[in-house]
Amino acid sequence: MVYDFDTVFDRLPTSSSKWSYRKQRTGVEDVIPMWVADMDFASPPEVTEAITARAAHPIYGYTVSSDKYYEGLINWMKRRHGWSGIQRDGILYSPGVVAGFNFAIQAYSQPGDKVVIQPPVYYPMKNAILNNGRQLVDNPLNLVKDNYVMDYEDLEEKIDGRTKMIILCSPHNPVGRVWKRNELEQLVEVCEKKDIVIVSDEIHFDLILGKIKHTCTATLSEDAMQRTVTLVAPSKTFNLAGLSNSSAIIPNKKLRDAFQNVTQNHGIHNSNIFGMVAQEAAYAKGEAWLEELLTYLRGNLKFMEDFIKEKIPGLKVYPLEGTYLAWVDCTSLGMDDAALKEFMLKKAKLWFDEGTMFGSGGSMFMRINIACPRSILKQALERLEKAVKEL
Ligand SMILES: Cc1ncc(COP(=O)(O)O)c(C=O)c1O
Repeated sequence: MVYDFDTVFDRLPTSSSKWSYRKQRTGVEDVIPMWVADMDFASPPEVTEAITARAAHPIYGYTVSSDKYYEGLINWMKRRHGWSGIQRDGILYSPGVVAGFNFAIQAYSQPGDKVVIQPPVYYPMKNAILNNGRQLVDNPLNLVKDNYVMDYEDLEEKIDGRTKMIILCSPHNPVGRVWKRNELEQLVEVCEKKDIVIVSDEIHFDLILGKIKHTCTATLSEDAMQRTVTLVAPSKTFNLAGLSNSSAIIPNKKLRDAFQNVTQNHGIHNSNIFGMVAQEAAYAKGEAWLEELLTYLRGNLKFMEDFIKEKIPGLKVYPLEGTYLAWVDCTSLGMDDAALKEFMLKKAKLWFDEGTMFGSGGSMFMRINIACPRSILKQALERLEKAVKEL
């Protein structure tokens, strides 16, 4: 390996959401935090160099997204995701993907309208729908032979005249599925029939650990292209979440104008300088680092799966096709959800995201972020093993 993923950094002095507020937020000082989705790895050195070089110029005034910024994203989408022909004016800036789906809700629905999500799913989606005064429609994933699948019949049944859009999570956080092309095709077919907008949150698109290739929803057909708003960012891939930078790719002019209208009404008109520079460097020079990251993450996954199989066999780790967030069924520990949370924090001293946060289907699950040096992962698993054996 050319790049280093083993160094353990002290993130405490950096106001890290994951590390710096453990006592305030959990009541336990020395928990190992494996909850929020950022990584305990240094970003690619090429990115740090670019940020440092820009920081050396001491004027940080209003900044407009550069040609290099747009070209970098367009080339990345083409090279790594097979999506050719994205036009520069089809790309809109958003300070984050969560902001992006909030803007989309405001752009494509009215208060009281319905918006669909597929739980268990990334919880800010539900909050965005409810906080904006829209009605939440759950189209839960089904578990078929230990594989999470979409329920197209249920979806079709639930879409009525007030339903304006679905927020898709692809790859899916927290169940770790990378949706196959034919699965997405069936989803698009229903959305086309019922004429609703698809907001496709593809923030985890580069983090593919298994054999299934990521398919961008918009590329499935001309109809999909015209009804899909694709939300992407380099933040998960290159560990840049603190730089507040993401893109909404919206080929359809009407949808794009509506989205832009909302962002303008929120006063969003400039890029974040360092977010822009980081994305330029990451997409131009970060590919070798990403390949090594994926190798390391696959190694972490295998390490965890082997450890659990051998030493804590009651726990069930679902196949992690994409993302670095493992979805683990803890039913065999024989607790209820409140007791499980307490057990993980106070006995095992581990801070995971509880499954119930992700909506229906999450009970008795824990979502475990494995994007950390293997030594930390090992320490965490040893804590878990010890706590389980003492039960
Ligand atoms: C599916 C999904 N969407 C969005 C985000 C966050 O995006 P941002 O930090 O750009 O708002 C996350 C972070 O965990 C995520 O998992």
